[in-house]
Amino acid sequence: MSRFLVTGGAGYVGSHTVLALRERGEEVVVLDDLRQGHREAVPPGVELVVADLANRKRVDEVFASYKFDGVLHFAALSLVGESMREPMRYMAENLSNTLWLAEAAVKAGCMRFVLSSTAALFGFPKYIPIDENADIAPVSAYGESKLMAETGLKWAERVYGLRTASLRYFNAAGADPLGRLGEDHNPETHLIPLAINAALGLGPELTVFGTDYDTPDGTCIRDYVHVTDLADAHLRVLDVLKQRPSVRYNVGNGNGYSVREVIDTVQRVSGRKVPHREGPRRPGDPAVLVASNRLLREETGWQPRHESLEDIIRTAWAWRAAHPQGFSSPAAKPQAA
Ligand code: UFG
Repeated sequence: MSRFLVTGGAGYVGSHTVLALRERGEEVVVLDDLRQGHREAVPPGVELVVADLANRKRVDEVFASYKFDGVLHFAALSLVGESMREPMRYMAENLSNTLWLAEAAVKAGCMRFVLSSTAALFGFPKYIPIDENADIAPVSAYGESKLMAETGLKWAERVYGLRTASLRYFNAAGADPLGRLGEDHNPETHLIPLAINAALGLGPELTVFGTDYDTPDGTCIRDYVHVTDLADAHLRVLDVLKQRPSVRYNVGNGNGYSVREVIDTVQRVSGRKVPHREGPRRPGDPAVLVASNRLLREETGWQPRHESLEDIIRTAWAWRAAHPQGFSSPAAKPQAA
């Protein structure tokens, strides 16, 4: 058994990864300021330290209280649109939190570090599917902030020997297939939960951002990767880091689906209409983002278990239909892992 520190472990991808670590029998401590995370998403048996990562004294205390075998760093500002209104805050906060966390880990002798990175690193890609050799050219301050974090970790690796993994997520989606956790952002900006909320009458009608892209149906194509598969990638890279000093992987399903296909699938899965209208393009949206996951599969044995869009949306729908107010719903009791 090992023990891991998970920052942002009360958030969407973080909490699903905490559950996966617990299911593997690992000990977990979550560090989360609950700005975006939910106390209810942390399972019993997992200590939750409510603290801001900028509080370096508190972070050092956490490292002094436990011996960790690795850090999984999910906590970050992560809204592309917001990052273009507050670029300096995004870059300063995401970079400095990563740097000081890595330094605290090294000081405590905790030498494995997994960073949540993003497909936003690739900006407008020159080819599809996007592999690990694609040009890095972010077009948002969010993407830039994660590039800066990756660069910072490179120096922690060179100078201190910290073993680092950067996972470039494509579009995380879906919910725990057993219904213990789901997606609950405030504000919600992601397509699948917005479409589901519209179908349930819990949110406004959906706006389709652009119908004149150079794609078969004119709407943007994205690679939706199930959050449980994403969680599994973290467990696998933790093992890889025992052998290798540094790895970078694109984490996606390898399949692309358009906005219209998402709407159709939500309608089919739910048996309800998704009220929607067509709107202008959202600035900064590339037409197509699809990952090559060949390297991740070959080097870690990773294999998506929820590959079909229908499967992904079914799990997201089931959780939201059972928890209309997200984690504030009466049904959202903490679940044992
Ligand atoms: N979309 C709509 N209407 C909406 C919301 C989204 O049409 O109300 C469209 C977007 O234009 C896009 C697709 O649905 O084509 C998916 O949009 P999301 O906002 O769900 O996700 P993004 O692809 O914009 O962003 C995701 C992650 C980011 C990451 C980015 C990498 O959420 O963190 O992928 O490109 F940076």
